[in-house]
Amino acid sequence: MSSPSTVHVQLGDRGYDIAIGPGSLKHLHPTLTSMHQSGARNAFVVVDSGVPTRFLEAIERTCEAIGLKVSTATITPTESIKTIETYQDLLTQIASTGHSRVDPVIALGGGIVGDLAGFVAASYRRGVPIIQCPTTLLSMVDASVGGKTGFNLQISNADGSPKLLKNLVGAFWQPDLVITDIDVLDSLEARYRRSGLAECIKHGCIAHGFNHPELMDWMIANLDQIIAFEPQAISELVSRNVALKASVVAADEREDTSMQGGRMLLNFGHTFGHAIETIAHLSPNKDDPSLAPLHHGEAVALGMVAACRAAESAHNLSPTVGDELVSLLDRVALPSRVPGLPSNDDLIERMGHDKKATAGSVRVIYPIQRGKCEVFADADPSHLAAGFDAIRC
Ligand SMILES: NC(=O)c1ccc[n+]([C@@H]2O[C@H](COP(=O)([O-])OP(=O)(O)OC[C@H]3O[C@@H](n4cnc5c(N)ncnc54)[C@H](O)[C@@H]3O)[C@@H](O)[C@H]2O)c1
Repeated sequence: MSSPSTVHVQLGDRGYDIAIGPGSLKHLHPTLTSMHQSGARNAFVVVDSGVPTRFLEAIERTCEAIGLKVSTATITPTESIKTIETYQDLLTQIASTGHSRVDPVIALGGGIVGDLAGFVAASYRRGVPIIQCPTTLLSMVDASVGGKTGFNLQISNADGSPKLLKNLVGAFWQPDLVITDIDVLDSLEARYRRSGLAECIKHGCIAHGFNHPELMDWMIANLDQIIAFEPQAISELVSRNVALKASVVAADEREDTSMQGGRMLLNFGHTFGHAIETIAHLSPNKDDPSLAPLHHGEAVALGMVAACRAAESAHNLSPTVGDELVSLLDRVALPSRVPGLPSNDDLIERMGHDKKATAGSVRVIYPIQRGKCEVFADADPSHLAAGFDAIRC
């Protein structure tokens, strides 16, 4: 696979390109030019404060050269600011720029910025164009592809304590273009790099069902270069994972709950993972509690292990599937066990609140063989408990 590369998401008139490779930010120019020719006069850039300023400056220069007036809103992302208040603040800012229905939003940041900016674009004036420029590995291989946007909602438990419901509010809103400039990853912290690798490993675990059976073997064969973050290997890793995600989205754009082989399979590891991701004291390293809470990819890594072990109880999945996963996570320095988990009853109750649950039951994604998963609608709590016990330390 050559680099840079372009992957097209096949969604008919909502289809779009994903330009991947070092320096691919230059692909903004033709798309913004064509938007300008169609009447766009403003661009609203939502930028992640962690991204080196030269990338924002490059976008500003491109816009200004074309004749677009640029306004910028900066976000310092954490799950606790992925809220209705931040969303409202962005709406207020975009409205004050006089942004019209044909003017683009540009998201330059990780998954939190992409999800929030995406929902602003989905809802402001009932929908305006958005260009996603993901800047973390996780947002490159997952969040920026497929049009899921939104924010978290906080509710109260019966005892009045707060409970964060991840991504509970949102909309499907496909981008017009995704620009995945690999150069931006140079400044990304190692822990966030690993978090992105967790989503890549997840893709490998479902890839057989989407005609990418070679994905896991390719990642294992190139793991040393991937761990070293060699640009060529990372470009190819991103291209291969984006191609997988694009296939899934093209087959099932809106995560049809009746479709057993569709987009829901991307939630492998997530129903278990979401149950533990919002527990504030959990750390990915048993010797360093200060690393709490878990990052999204760390929770997904643990969730995938729990799902494999639960599937061993549920339908005698061969332990070799979970064993291979654990050894891969170990090599990448992602957790496969976590200290301080609450009781299984508490965790299963948290799973029931995940938005992938259906009323009164927990729906999970279990592997049925290496590289292939299926949706299980009414998971037996004893199997879920076996999964959580396997990641407890
Ligand atoms: N929409 C989807 O389909 C989808 C899929 C997966 C995850 N998500 C969401 O994505 C979010 C997680 O995204 P994330 O892992 O990108 O985390 P993030 O958005 O929290 O960013 C992680 C950190 O990296 C910093 N950062 C971003 N780019 C950087 C760069 N180039 N250099 C240095 N620092 C940089 C950010 O400032 C932040 O501190 C979660 O909220 C999750 O729910 C959405």
